[in-house]
Amino acid sequence: MASFTITPLTDHTGAEVVGLDFTQPIDAGARATLSRAFAEHHVLVMRDQHFDPDQFKTAAQVFGELQPHDKKERHVPGHPDVYFVSNDEIVNGKRIIPGETFHTDHSNHPRPPKATTLFAVELPSSGGDTQYVNMHDAYDDLPESTKQRIDGLKALHVYQSKYSPRALSGLNEESRRNLPPPGVHPLVRTHPENGRKALFLNPVRMESIVGMADEDALSLIDELMRHATQKKYEYRHQWRYGDWVLWDNRSVMHQANPDYDMRERRYLYRLMLKGEVPA
Ligand code: SIN
Repeated sequence: MASFTITPLTDHTGAEVVGLDFTQPIDAGARATLSRAFAEHHVLVMRDQHFDPDQFKTAAQVFGELQPHDKKERHVPGHPDVYFVSNDEIVNGKRIIPGETFHTDHSNHPRPPKATTLFAVELPSSGGDTQYVNMHDAYDDLPESTKQRIDGLKALHVYQSKYSPRALSGLNEESRRNLPPPGVHPLVRTHPENGRKALFLNPVRMESIVGMADEDALSLIDELMRHATQKKYEYRHQWRYGDWVLWDNRSVMHQANPDYDMRERRYLYRLMLKGEVPA
């Protein structure tokens, strides 16, 4: 089996993987170790990788099956199934920073992606970190009364909620046509591999909580978000060239930071992996 190390980055979230070259075949033993580490640490940072778009696609599949993005038009030229995030897009005079507020990915799907992954291609000279918050720990720390109040509640997740804290860039006709029906997901889900409960929140896409007046739903979501985004639950990833980061959407929320000089480019390849119906 290949020799490599996995070192925790905090005592709750994130681990660094050093010593593997994912452009080479990864054997079954290493795959099993990585998959256990992913379920335990929720964010894996694979250092010193060098990928072209096809190599990135092959590497991502070590962890699962690719799930297409909703926004078909945002892909690497010549690679329709490799997506990207960048700070290049300006709509109505406003720069779009994909992923600028805390969220979990594509929760508007009946089966949201289990994981999302980014590979750094161009980075600003400082800033542009990605923040992750641990939704298992956030759930565990809730008062018993809150757990009882939210266990069993379900939310409707649409492409963009009318209450979203930020505008998503628009979809073209083809992408809109391909949207799945909205997802109806529990506020508390159980991770199928580590068995832990987690809050499952996404203010960008949560349109309502089933059976609750919108005003009450918004106030509950706000209370849970304030709790879950406390610094004690956070791993903040400072990007380096060579970083390939994979996160578990069932365990963490994440957000991008627009805190750098926008004359510098930030451009990362992005893929997602298929997940299951949240339960
Ligand atoms: C995203 O939400 O996928 C973007 C995260 C980032 O650009 O740091």
